[in-house]
Parts: sequence; C-alpha cells; structure tokens
Amino acid sequence: MNRYNIAVVGATGAVGEEIFRVLEEKRFPVGDILPLASAKSAGETIEFNGKSYRVEELTESVFNGRDIDIAFFSAGGGISAKYARYAVEAGAVVIDNTSQFRMEDRVPLVVPEVNPEDIELWEDSGIIANPNCSTIQMVQILKPLDDLYGIKRVDVSTYQAVSGAGKSGMEELVNQMKDFFAFKLDETTIKTFPHQIALNVIPHIDTPQPNGYTKEEMKMVNETNKIMHSNFAISATCVRVPVMRSHSESITITFREGVEVSVDMVRDVLSKFPNLKVIDNLEQSIYPMPTISSDTDYTYVGRIRRDIFSPNILHLWGVADQVRVGAATNAVRIAERWIELKD
Ligand code: A2P
Repeated sequence: MNRYNIAVVGATGAVGEEIFRVLEEKRFPVGDILPLASAKSAGETIEFNGKSYRVEELTESVFNGRDIDIAFFSAGGGISAKYARYAVEAGAVVIDNTSQFRMEDRVPLVVPEVNPEDIELWEDSGIIANPNCSTIQMVQILKPLDDLYGIKRVDVSTYQAVSGAGKSGMEELVNQMKDFFAFKLDETTIKTFPHQIALNVIPHIDTPQPNGYTKEEMKMVNETNKIMHSNFAISATCVRVPVMRSHSESITITFREGVEVSVDMVRDVLSKFPNLKVIDNLEQSIYPMPTISSDTDYTYVGRIRRDIFSPNILHLWGVADQVRVGAATNAVRIAERWIELKD
C-alpha cells in the first residue's frame, strides 16, 4: 500500500490537532508527518501514532525537499494566501480549510458525500478547498432532498459553537464563564467575539458586507450553490451561541411548485445518505443536539416537519461537530478520495 507524507499547517490549532486525530482513527496510510505552525510554537512536539514529531515554523522554503504529498492548511486565510503556493510548487496537493480559495473557478470546493467528482479538477490549481463548516453540514442534508424533490429555496438560521473561532474562541467562553462564577463578568475580557459570548447570543459572525449580510452568511449562500452545482435561492442568518463545539441549524426548504412533501420519504432518503443519522422522536424528546453530535463524524437530522400552510415546504433541524464534520473530517475524507483517484 502507498504511504503519503502529510504536512499540517496550523498543527497546534483546534482543527490541526483534530486532523491528526482523524488521520489516526481512520488509519490513514501516513508516511512522514510535518507539523507546521508559527515561530512561537516551533520546537513543541505533537504525538501521532505513538511517535513524537517536532513542530516547525511555516516558511516559504519549509516544503522544499520534504516530498510532501498532502498539505492540510488550517491557519487562517492570510496564511493560505501567502504559503499554499509554496506547498503546491513543492509537489503537494493542498487541502485548504480557509475561505481563501473557495470561490475561485479553478479550485474545486468539495463535500465528498455531495460532489466527490469535483476532486478531479484538483490539478488545475493544486488546491482543493474545504467548505465553510455550516455549509458542509447543510449540503449533506440538502443533496438527497434536492435529488428527491428539487429545491427552489432554502432559509437557514445557524446556532454556531465557539469552536468555529478556533482555540481562542473556546478559551474565551471558558474564561468568561469563570468570571461569571467569580462575580466578575462585568470586567471580563472580550477579544475574539464582538460581544460577551458567555450567557449571550450574537447574531454576527465574520465581517459585515455591503448588502447587510455577514461574510459567514454569504459563504453559506455562495458555497452551497457551487458545491451542489445549483442556483436556488438561499438566505442565511448566522448566530454565535455559547456552545463549545457543534453547530446547529434550523433549515426551511421550499421545493418546486406542486411538490407534496412526504415526511416518511424525507426520513427514508436522509437515513440512507452516507454519514447522516436521522434521530427524530419528539414525543420521546429525541432530536439532534450538540451533546449528541460532538466528537462524532455524523451529521444528525431531526424535527422533520411539513409546513402547516404549504405542502411544498419542509422544516428540519441539523447538528454536526464543527471541528470534525465541519472541518477536519471533511478534509481527511477529501484526502481519502484524492488518494483513490491517484492510485
Ligand atoms: P500557533 O499556535 O503557533 O499560533 P486556531 O484556529 O485554533 O486559533 O489555530 C490557528 C493555527 O494557526 C495554530 O496552529 C497557529 O499556530 C497557526 N498559525 C497562526 N499564525 C500562523 C503563522 N503566522 N504561521 C504559521 N501558523 C500560524
């Protein structure tokens, strides 16, 4: 069996650490490992498959002569913009977790359960983009339903965990809760989010856009249609909530005129789709929640209801671990498909 040399840029971050965990769990055929981060972390070690690897500083030349096959980038858009090309020039395929290249025509944007065929375009740029975390879990639900009925419009509100802002987001929630219990919340530090996130709900993720939406909301709009090769209408409202990891989404789907939604058929197609789990029994208080999805590789769907007034409208609730399904696991699933193509 071939073995692949792997670089992880952002190896000390929330998603970088999870990439190593997923590679280990999936028994990915790893040859050598090159963990990369900023100068501040150089010299630290990470453990992988029982061996220690030294973290090195990301530089323009660090990929040279290292024979890297796959470079996962997860250190922010600016870092990908500056350094991804050096990894590509050194012969690696870059699987990029940031939004830097997602909407470029030459760069495939892939959720392997939805559009695996697009991976074939990787050679155009040497880069495969990993979509936005909220988008990944939503398109896994939309794809089988679009195949069933044909989607006309999607309206989604997200309830996004602090893990989406990396380790600093998780630390900020923990520190603010500590300050709350110490009766010091009024003097707590607010740095990663625009407001206090502890005991709060913030309807603002990423930068404001001229059209009144946020960048996160526009990612969901644009990336969904690119991944699904569709052009249906989408509106998103993205909200940060004080949950550690796992994003939840309330999704309303309007199908083509004339469709009469059957909840049983919807359940059936969703439960047959790879990596989706339907858990839906309101009477028994069974539905997806972050406590169920966190640390798993599944996207959970429940609260499946036909609209009270319009038979072509469906409402449901989807939850997935943002660090895994929304980032690390999707990236490794892309790498697995890329390997199948190459071998
Ligand atoms: P470091 O720990 O050395 O700062 P998170 O998303 O959890 O905040 O993690 C961000 C990741 O990106 C970390 O691994 C961080 O490394 C890395 N990173 C941040 N800035 C740089 C940089 N200038 N060069 C390389 N890696 C960086």
